[in-house]
Amino acid sequence: MEQKREKFSSSLAVFLATLSSAVGLGNIWMFPYITGENGGAAFIIIYLICVALVGLPVLISEFIIGRGTRRNVHGAISKITNKNRFKIISVFAILATYFMLSFYTVVVGWVYSYLYKAVIGALKGVTSETTSILFYNTSVGPIAPIIWQMIALLVGGTILVLGVKGGIEKLTKTLMPVLILLLGICAFRSLTLAGAMEGINFLIKPDFSKVHIGVVLSALGLAFFKLSVGSGAMITYSSYYTDDNNLIGTAGKVAISDTLVSLTAGLAIFPAAFSFGLEPSSGPGLLFNTVPLIFAKMPGGWVLSIIFFVLAAMAATMSMISLLEVLIVVFTEELKMERKKAIIMNVIIIALVGSLAALSGNPNGILGNKLVFGLTFFDLFDTLVSKILLPINGLLIILLTGYFINKKYLTDQLSNNGILNNELTIKTLIFIMKYISPILIIIVFLKSFI
Ligand code: PHE
Repeated sequence: MEQKREKFSSSLAVFLATLSSAVGLGNIWMFPYITGENGGAAFIIIYLICVALVGLPVLISEFIIGRGTRRNVHGAISKITNKNRFKIISVFAILATYFMLSFYTVVVGWVYSYLYKAVIGALKGVTSETTSILFYNTSVGPIAPIIWQMIALLVGGTILVLGVKGGIEKLTKTLMPVLILLLGICAFRSLTLAGAMEGINFLIKPDFSKVHIGVVLSALGLAFFKLSVGSGAMITYSSYYTDDNNLIGTAGKVAISDTLVSLTAGLAIFPAAFSFGLEPSSGPGLLFNTVPLIFAKMPGGWVLSIIFFVLAAMAATMSMISLLEVLIVVFTEELKMERKKAIIMNVIIIALVGSLAALSGNPNGILGNKLVFGLTFFDLFDTLVSKILLPINGLLIILLTGYFINKKYLTDQLSNNGILNNELTIKTLIFIMKYISPILIIIVFLKSFI
């Protein structure tokens, strides 16, 4: 049964909404710290290869599935696979989305709490001891991390009540340009500090001695995570695309812009970190321990700290709503539930499962010593998503489009029924989808487990 569905209103709206899902904590939190831990530029080069040869083809595949079927992830996969084994993709996608939201909302909550701290001036003049205490108070709880996570979920739920055009489109059209401007300001300040060159070198001079197969798996996982593929978010958003949208063009623009945002975030953090003699490889704590220290040492740092956490909060919120939207449309279309009810149900489910992550996000948290397969819940959800579910689902999606979807259907979607005149691009893309992306995913995956 066809349902009446909303659509984005223009190509610009499509681009900004899609970019807003891609740009998130991945750019501002993960990309800098993973780059910091894995040899700077060397990691970036491997990451770019993963984006081009794997992330981008999977992203385009998701667009084909989403816009082609105009359904939620479950409906889309069922329609396009026509009952074959690939139906498992939607199960993996929904699982990945729940697990991802469970830990993502924890970090969104931390970001909100740091924004609050920045505004009230609590980050002024911090030292390395006081930043650890602040982070402890934010993430150990039991109350603080749960409350901030709830606030994050409430913000996300409220935006989504307003729907696709009134909520997602309006918000992303307004906030994405602001976000990019604010990030530019932070990068400019960082680059104009004395000693910034060392940080720039870190980002452009590769140190391949730190690269091993685990690093390549991290780069691949990050490429999936960054481009929001494997979880159904891009299938869902592209189900709202306009009919005349150039899918390959949008995917290319999103991947390039997203990478530029990550690099700019790197430029906002590393030169400043080096300039003040701070460690760039401090891991996940980079954003919450190192970054406040940088601002405390910087002239004009208070205002910049607010700017920085405002932009981080905006990026994190927009990615979070793209994940929530996946589940909400599954509920409204498959379970025929009213949108508001679907939002409330999902917020409750995520708050419940997510509290496990909220209480173990810091090793000192109440559940910080409860290990499952040797990992805390927080790390377990993250690992399950980034290292297992997203790559496997990415592989299945690319195999599905490369080998099982009717070639004419693919070409029609990618050329908008012949209007775009891009046969050569499509041929090259299908070649990469069939022979390059799946083989790369399989090699990286097997190598890192054997
Ligand atoms: N791309 C988002 C980020 O970088 C995360 C995300 C993954 C969002 C998958 C939606 C779906 O933070």
